[in-house]
Amino acid sequence: MILVLKNLFSPEELASIRSDLGPQAPWISGASSAGGQAVTQKNNQQLAQDSALAKALQQRILHAVQADPLFFSAALPHKIFNPLFNRYSGASNHYGPHIDGAVLHSRQTGERVRTDLSCTVFLNDPADYGGGELTVHDTYGAQSIKLPAGHAVLYPGTSLHEVRPVTRGQRLASFFWIQSMVRSDEQRRLLFDLDMNLLKLRQQHGETAETTALTGTYHNLLRMWAAV
Ligand code: NI
Repeated sequence: MILVLKNLFSPEELASIRSDLGPQAPWISGASSAGGQAVTQKNNQQLAQDSALAKALQQRILHAVQADPLFFSAALPHKIFNPLFNRYSGASNHYGPHIDGAVLHSRQTGERVRTDLSCTVFLNDPADYGGGELTVHDTYGAQSIKLPAGHAVLYPGTSLHEVRPVTRGQRLASFFWIQSMVRSDEQRRLLFDLDMNLLKLRQQHGETAETTALTGTYHNLLRMWAAV
């Protein structure tokens, strides 16, 4: 499932984050953190993740996504890998087709995180740069994603994906991975659909015996499938 999370930040918050991510920020070659196959494809810049700036911005990203109920319902997060930041511009302008590592070790928390889902948060306006689409090769074919500043996309960690060359301007984004309580994308999808439709039924009819019973079904499925 590919899901868009909208308006995670106000325009003022976005302007402040972009200002923090200006040329003075500790940008380093993105290749320094890519493993194995991915390193041959990666040509971008990344914010030094141990910097004080990266740590402060990580908290802002986490706070914003965790405030969105859609994020919880779709991802059912168990562990979140500390958000990273990247910049595509000039000669460092793309990340060719690759698969992210299945299990990542966070230097920051010491944890290992299984990458069930990936999330990209777009931090600047699509009109500010040419190209730079996130292309996710899904079972339905290639999906090309280029979202307004402050929107994010959640997609399965199992997908082959790439960032197309940025031909003008710069593309700023944050990205991170989530280990879900529910490992299977299919099972998460069923739980998400059930949850969203229960929400709509409650809006239309209030709480009824049926919505209470179906909420029980939701939690019993979650209990059956969740690993925490
Ligand atoms: Ni990737």
